[in-house]
Amino acid sequence: SRASLDVSQIAFTSDKQKHAVDALVREFDISPQLLQDIKKNFMAGMQKGLKKDGETLAMITSYVVGRLDGSETGSYLALDVGGTNLRVVSVHLAGGGEIITRQTKYRIDEKLKIGEAKALFDFMAVCVDSFLDEHQIAVRGDTQIELGFTFSFPVLQTSINRGTLISWTKGFNAAGMVGKDPVAYLQDAFNRRHIPVRVAALVNDTVGTLLAHAYHNPETVMGVILGTGCNGAYIERIDNIKKWKGDASAKEMIINMEFGAFDKEREILPLTMFDNKMDRKSVNPNKQIFEKMIAGMYLGEITRNVLLNLIDRRLLFEGGISPDINQMWTFETAYMSTIEADASPHLHATRKILESTLSFPATTMNDRQIVKLVVELVGKRAARLSAAAVAGILEHTGAWHQKAAIGIDGSLFEYYPSFDTDIMDGLVEVFGQDIRNNISIGLAQDGSGVGAALCALLAAKHATP
Ligand code: GLC
Repeated sequence: SRASLDVSQIAFTSDKQKHAVDALVREFDISPQLLQDIKKNFMAGMQKGLKKDGETLAMITSYVVGRLDGSETGSYLALDVGGTNLRVVSVHLAGGGEIITRQTKYRIDEKLKIGEAKALFDFMAVCVDSFLDEHQIAVRGDTQIELGFTFSFPVLQTSINRGTLISWTKGFNAAGMVGKDPVAYLQDAFNRRHIPVRVAALVNDTVGTLLAHAYHNPETVMGVILGTGCNGAYIERIDNIKKWKGDASAKEMIINMEFGAFDKEREILPLTMFDNKMDRKSVNPNKQIFEKMIAGMYLGEITRNVLLNLIDRRLLFEGGISPDINQMWTFETAYMSTIEADASPHLHATRKILESTLSFPATTMNDRQIVKLVVELVGKRAARLSAAAVAGILEHTGAWHQKAAIGIDGSLFEYYPSFDTDIMDGLVEVFGQDIRNNISIGLAQDGSGVGAALCALLAAKHATP
């Protein structure tokens, strides 16, 4: 868990240093009032997105209609693209809530992320092919293996396995894909290699997470990802989805919100110069600013910007520098987890990261305390902003005063100290009452893999003949 520091514990070396730190504390604070305002604004954005396409919150209809009860059985492949690694997973749903998975991770070269789209999709097909070999999965005759494709980017879906890419996020920017159908690209790559796989469902990781959590916990109303990126999905009533023109016989549908895009207008989020600097240098400036204040891909970079500013003002490390920290993205969010958890009296773990990993010259206790405080400010703000989003969804659906479960997946949620309690505290604060007995927040195990398989299963079950 988190070992929090108080500003009063820091022995400042000068008034100037103290003022600078106090200013940071104010800048990164999300006051109770601001938390409420962000939630309110977020809910208004949800309403807009449910009315028409092209709004800031895309509120994408996932075409996933049925619910699950854990009795479902079958074997599927899942391909998960959109995080740090690409994963191929074979999922066997044994019924009774039992799931057996086998998976292999593949590294996606940075060049592939920003190269030609065809090369990226060919790479995906090659990974699936080698997975089938490695696990000796073969098919007889002309049957095909059904695959759930977790493609975790904003895709405007037109059916359970069709859609067009709205934009890339999270450092991907492969040429010529926006407006195109990722399923068509993937299926084509399989076909050209005679790989007997059919893309049965296109799934966002949040939708997968919701389904995977629901397989064990039928009260699940929401799936959230707090990892490289951040986003949420929830179950909406069809008659609330004003823009829905399709089949109205279904009562409800999972909505992929794409909430990382929230507040593109910059109306409400308290962006600092450190956020703006990171945003300006990212591959998608001015986009996904909510995601950039929350998700694992960005928190380290924001922290780095704050530290550099203090160094340049000669308020930290006596102006001393490490060549490493001059490079973008070198301050990893994983370091922040370690620093947050550092409860040793001399901040030993923090020292190790600064001196051994980042090659700073000898640090003082004062340096380490300030670094730790900066990390905490950035981390805490991220958790409170996540809480604003979760609260908005809970209030919109009315689920906050019912029994409801929230499934969350992603490295940030899994490894960052106290992210879960910070979110819960935020919810209690927003609703002004202890909702811990009603609302549960749980780690959804492998939402992207298992969820994609469940989605492929639902696709077959609800297929229109
Ligand atoms: C980004 C993607 C979104 C995904 C999220 C978490 O926000 O646009 O589709 O769900 O990252 O991976």
